[in-house]
Amino acid sequence: MSKRLAGKKAFITGGAQGLGLAMGEMFMREGADVTLTDIQLDKVSQEAERIGAAAGIEHDVTDPFAWKQALEAAAEEMDGINVLVHNAGIGSFGNVETESYEMYRKVCAIDMDSVFLGTQAAMPYLKDNAPASIIIISSVAGLMADGNFLSYNVAKAGVAMMGKSIALHCARNGYQINCNSIHPVFTRTPILDPMIQLKGSQEEGEKALVRNIPMKRLGEPDEVAAMATYLASDEARFVTGSEFRIDGGITACGLGSK
Ligand SMILES: NC(=O)c1ccc[n+]([C@@H]2O[C@H](COP(=O)([O-])OP(=O)(O)OC[C@H]3O[C@@H](n4cnc5c(N)ncnc54)[C@H](O)[C@@H]3O)[C@@H](O)[C@H]2O)c1
Repeated sequence: MSKRLAGKKAFITGGAQGLGLAMGEMFMREGADVTLTDIQLDKVSQEAERIGAAAGIEHDVTDPFAWKQALEAAAEEMDGINVLVHNAGIGSFGNVETESYEMYRKVCAIDMDSVFLGTQAAMPYLKDNAPASIIIISSVAGLMADGNFLSYNVAKAGVAMMGKSIALHCARNGYQINCNSIHPVFTRTPILDPMIQLKGSQEEGEKALVRNIPMKRLGEPDEVAAMATYLASDEARFVTGSEFRIDGGITACGLGSK
């Protein structure tokens, strides 16, 4: 049987670790060419080499010029790009009284503005190499609010709606480019470390994180990568402008039903 991503050329941001790296590894196993990018140059280079990716590139997703350079380099290495995964992101813990404007702007720049900058810069590559896919890693925090995730809520909700606008533009222009968002709940990657450390031990930290998740466990990176693999594949050609939740049931909860 042919591999599900044969012929795909994927550009994955935030690929040095966590979900970006898990997607890169799964995409490779399914026959894609992969470029990983990240602000952590050493780590992204090492991991790209370890998994046999086409390239590992230093790239700050908030910098328009860096997008241009990274896309050019990746397209040269892979002979085009037809899968763009907006994965790079940071968290922030702050409410409307405690969050600084500086942090708010930083989270919005990395988690949201980057999706606009990068998609705009990548459109010529995606159009030239269609059928193509844009995958946005949002969060359940883009669908449900928490008093202490103000900036993250804004950015992750913003990219989900941005994805729908991009999807409609592509569909109505006949581009054969689909665009969808993925919404994971807490998933086992380094981004959770600060929240786990707040509770003093790994066990207590995880217990606190899963308290409101009906399945009572964290997500695993490969569970998110599996959804991204589907969305990057030709199996998902008619799927666009949609939100895919990988959340152990948390967004299905009604009042008091957790
Ligand atoms: N792990 C979770 O629980 C979870 C849940 C929902 C959504 N997400 C989202 O998934 C995505 C991946 O997160 P993760 O869990 O793998 O976290 P992670 O911290 O392990 O990885 C994030 C990566 O993004 C990179 N990065 C940060 N700022 C960057 C910048 N300006 N330019 C380029 N790269 C940058 C980091 O160096 C890091 O390698 C993020 O968008 C995150 O918000 C994660």
